[in-house]
Amino acid sequence: MIIGIHDLDVATAHYVLDLDEMAQALGVDPAKYEKGLGQDEFSVPAPDEDIVTMAAEAASRVLSRNDRTRIRSVLFATETGIDQSKAAGVFVHGLLGLPHTVRTVEFKQACYSGTAALQAAVNQVARYPEDQVLVITADVARYAVGTGGEPTQGAGAVAMLVAADPNLVVIEPGSGVYTSDVNDFWRPNDSSTPFVEGKLSLDAYMDANVGAWDDLVAQRGLSITDIDRFMHHQPFTKMARKAHSRLAEHVGLPLGDDLIEQSMVYNRRIGNSYTASLYFGLVAQLHAGDALEGRRLGLFSYGSGSVAEFFTAVVQEGYSDYLHPENVTQSLDRRVPLTFEEYRDLHANYIGESDNVETPIVTAAPFRFTGITDRVRQYEARS
Ligand code: CAA
Repeated sequence: MIIGIHDLDVATAHYVLDLDEMAQALGVDPAKYEKGLGQDEFSVPAPDEDIVTMAAEAASRVLSRNDRTRIRSVLFATETGIDQSKAAGVFVHGLLGLPHTVRTVEFKQACYSGTAALQAAVNQVARYPEDQVLVITADVARYAVGTGGEPTQGAGAVAMLVAADPNLVVIEPGSGVYTSDVNDFWRPNDSSTPFVEGKLSLDAYMDANVGAWDDLVAQRGLSITDIDRFMHHQPFTKMARKAHSRLAEHVGLPLGDDLIEQSMVYNRRIGNSYTASLYFGLVAQLHAGDALEGRRLGLFSYGSGSVAEFFTAVVQEGYSDYLHPENVTQSLDRRVPLTFEEYRDLHANYIGESDNVETPIVTAAPFRFTGITDRVRQYEARS
């Protein structure tokens, strides 16, 4: 039996900030962002958006093309949880009107947890081949203003339906895994922004990349030339380039940038979306119009702290018939540009407490976060 991603789709936030605007306001050379970090712009949520609204939009696009009664689990992966107890996926389950006969749970390990959720989904289908599992990765990357991370913010969601005999990609058995206790990026319970050791995080990421690769080789006997395209986690796209050249050095073979180039197209515009970022890379690679049938993709997932996984996926015959690039284009192009001052105002007015609040109607998306009543988050689905 083959198991993998049967369908997928995305969503992002209402606003966009052009990094040239930030560079000008902060007196930074725009080339630092464009070339040094490899980023052009980033998505910024409106006050009536969060991980749940983006996740629900991405998932509703997937469900509109599939039989929702076959879904037996909703696995929601995020760094930006909205409640310490209740899984964000339960709100999404309600908004989407999924059957009660579904298991819903949240996964956490910084930017890595989407991959843990994907593997759990594959394992469930291996045991119960009739089941389908909805995996949702969604995050709002929000750093403190004035920090090195500020230009690497972003927001987005990728929803994936995992099933037997998938239309898009087969997740192959056997992956390389790597855990190392390192404080490169963490977010205590009382902080809405992370603490970051920037330079340490770059090294921790690259050590995990080669460590997970070595484990993949040990598990499967694969060679680097068995991989046709690479997708490395992209906190900013230059990070993927750095990892790719470090991996080339590690294996002692040249690995051209052409093997990662297409995976970075969406992330340059969305910014970091933590758990969703790797999967925006996958979506971009599949949308690239490159004939990938039968090709093996190498995906590297990294979550600070740190846990990493290198795994492989094989692209299915006819996959391009099941893609919807127009949804990505629509999500990106409908974003409303912000001035730097407007962006900073939104950043300062982030709702991080659970006091009563009613949010203004801003987003044009199909789901809204309408506010908080008696410490309960409120959402609405617009027809
Ligand atoms: N023209 C072109 N390039 C320029 C430039 C200019 N005028 N000025 C600077 N640059 C280049 C620099 O040379 C550098 O490139 P190299 O690293 O290739 O040399 C790049 O721009 C960045 O410059 P700095 O190192 O000076 O940037 P910084 O100190 O302001 O911050 C950062 C960089 C530490 C990555 C910061 O963005 C940060 O803290 N980000 C958040 C943490 C992060 O994303 N870490 C990645 C690994 S952790 C992870 O992956 C999990 C996750 O999602 C967070």
